[in-house]
Amino acid sequence: MNRKQAQERIAELRREIERHNYLYYTLDAPEISDAEYDALYRELANLEREFPDLVTPDSPTQKVGGPVARELATVRHEFPMYSLDNAFSLGELRDFDARVHRFLKLDVAEPLEYHVEPKLDGLAVSLKYENGRFALGTTRGDGREGEDVTANLRTLKPLPLRLTRDVSLTVRGEVFFTEQDFARVNEQRKEAGEPLFANARNAAAGSLRQLDTAVTASRPLRIFLYALEEPERHGVKTQAGAIAKLRELHLPTAPLNTLCRGIDEAVSYIEGDLAEAREGLAFSTDGAVVKLNDFALWDKLGFTAKSPRFAIAYKYASAEAVTELEGVTFQLSRTGTMTPVAELAPVEIGGVTVKRATLHNLDEIERLGVAIGDKVRVMRAGEVIPKVQGVAEVGEKRRDILAKLPTHCESCGTKLVRRDDPPNLACPNRECPEVVAQQVAFFASRGAMRIERLGGKIARRLVREGLLKDVADIYTLREHERELVALEGFAEISVQNLLAEIEGSKRRPFARVLYALGIPEVGAQTARLLTEHFADIDEMIAAPPERFDEIYGIGEVVAREIWEFLHDERNLKLIKRLREAGLQFASGAEGQAGGFFSGKKVCVTGRIDPFTRDEWKEIIEASGGYFVTAVSKSTDLLLAGEEPGSKLAKAEKLGVEVMDANALREALKSDVPPESEELAARWREFVGED
Ligand code: IVH
Repeated sequence: MNRKQAQERIAELRREIERHNYLYYTLDAPEISDAEYDALYRELANLEREFPDLVTPDSPTQKVGGPVARELATVRHEFPMYSLDNAFSLGELRDFDARVHRFLKLDVAEPLEYHVEPKLDGLAVSLKYENGRFALGTTRGDGREGEDVTANLRTLKPLPLRLTRDVSLTVRGEVFFTEQDFARVNEQRKEAGEPLFANARNAAAGSLRQLDTAVTASRPLRIFLYALEEPERHGVKTQAGAIAKLRELHLPTAPLNTLCRGIDEAVSYIEGDLAEAREGLAFSTDGAVVKLNDFALWDKLGFTAKSPRFAIAYKYASAEAVTELEGVTFQLSRTGTMTPVAELAPVEIGGVTVKRATLHNLDEIERLGVAIGDKVRVMRAGEVIPKVQGVAEVGEKRRDILAKLPTHCESCGTKLVRRDDPPNLACPNRECPEVVAQQVAFFASRGAMRIERLGGKIARRLVREGLLKDVADIYTLREHERELVALEGFAEISVQNLLAEIEGSKRRPFARVLYALGIPEVGAQTARLLTEHFADIDEMIAAPPERFDEIYGIGEVVAREIWEFLHDERNLKLIKRLREAGLQFASGAEGQAGGFFSGKKVCVTGRIDPFTRDEWKEIIEASGGYFVTAVSKSTDLLLAGEEPGSKLAKAEKLGVEVMDANALREALKSDVPPESEELAARWREFVGED
């Protein structure tokens, strides 16, 4: 290869590698395997070794780092980095909305449009790009001056050193660890005998503010950007537009950003979907940031000495209380593991009465040093299960917990065994009624097959009645309709509803079915990765463990677990029966995030039967789009029905794409139906499916 050819290939490889970084870290949708990625990287490194004069600081190979300085230089911020005011309750959040209305002299009944974002818990940074090249990165510092961490930030895999266009801009965001990565970093420090980081945020700060950037490079730091300075220079008028702009440039942004019309909608999003999604997120968030969407209003509102008036941070309730530990019980899980649960003297924490809290595992009990009779500190953070934090006061009469562990399963009487990871007792009986009931309840849970009427209580009852021996039996319940109706408390009507829901669950996509099976270590995300890589379950069963390991995002241990699960006789039998029942075991329809509206800002005008405006909103959002109430330059699509309003003319004037009912029907044919059964039925009718 001559120099010119090398130069071209190098440029091409760099673009490719940056693109795959973006797909992996921002879209969470890698297109190639780890091995393929490594091959690209190696090819680039080899070429650069051969032609050292072609190495530039913005090459992905330069993300390895090395000693840079004796101390980090101080830099004055071009744009001061304000912090946000906090709202510690929903009441305070509504006060904020009222304040904004008052300031703008608007009627409080007039809803304002808010952009709601998860609040990231890390270290704020400001990044400057010049002509598309990463030029300067600083920490927030005191808001006026920060530290120059350019060299450190260069080593972050998710951060592009070149943007997709040669623009100059300044952006702000947060550097953080995912919970998993944080745990791993601490694990390594423990092994190396180094002091542990107190929390993920300290770990992120410590890792970024390094004098030897090779240390930073060795830590899997992440970054999400959430603000664009001087948006008007980039023709951006709203926060949603700013985020779209960042994404367009392939800067990583957080998931779950949502536009809400009015504070009520913001509140219900924060307490509903966002709170629910929180536990499943890889990164930790301790709240939400609520920002007015329209930048014109930002200019009108301005800043107080400390913080902007147009945005506020809402913190999920996180509170602690002290109460007596009255006893310890053990909760059997769907895998047979028994989690120790603290039975507490009832105490109020953050407005909720807490009577139980998790003790996680036997090692944790030892680590906390708690005994029955002690006064313990209990914490509740948002939606998360309350947790025993430690001993507040040693009790007078103490009963040791570990010395008197149960020996036999309370549910089936089987002798308990010890498991290691995590260290806990477990019931080894695969037919244990409580274990089966837990499996059924998990299978039917929201993120899985979503059979709402089949919760834990009903599941337990049906197992006890001998109607369910495993999850496949759910699909034979139809044959036992009489027995079901005869059960006390199962009025005919609810039996009918339950059976209809079970029938409907057969249409859940393969990824959900896979998740519902409860394969160890396979969460919703991994299940999705799997269905993207395999055409169907047969292909998965036939695959060697290496094929799972090859998937970017699945490690060796998880690969093993999956392979073992798929080679267990009983599991195979179960899969066969579920398949015969009509469940989806092939990847067909796309996942919701890849839906037709995905990433689009969509506005609706006129009537498009058979859905109301609110229902269209639900459909658009379920398929990954943003529902917006007005047409602007940044709108991607206008759905125009009968008797359209002035929005149609406006869209035509601005050149916004318009679709009528017929075009929409065609476009939606390959989309996934909405979640709610009722909506899904009409949706199918609309697109002409039977
Ligand atoms: S916007 C002028 N958006 O929270 C407003 N900040 O408590 C600039 N943070 O200093 C901040 N997630 O470090 C914004 N989605 C988000 C955020 C966020 C986390 C941090 C940021 C800020 C602090 C304020």
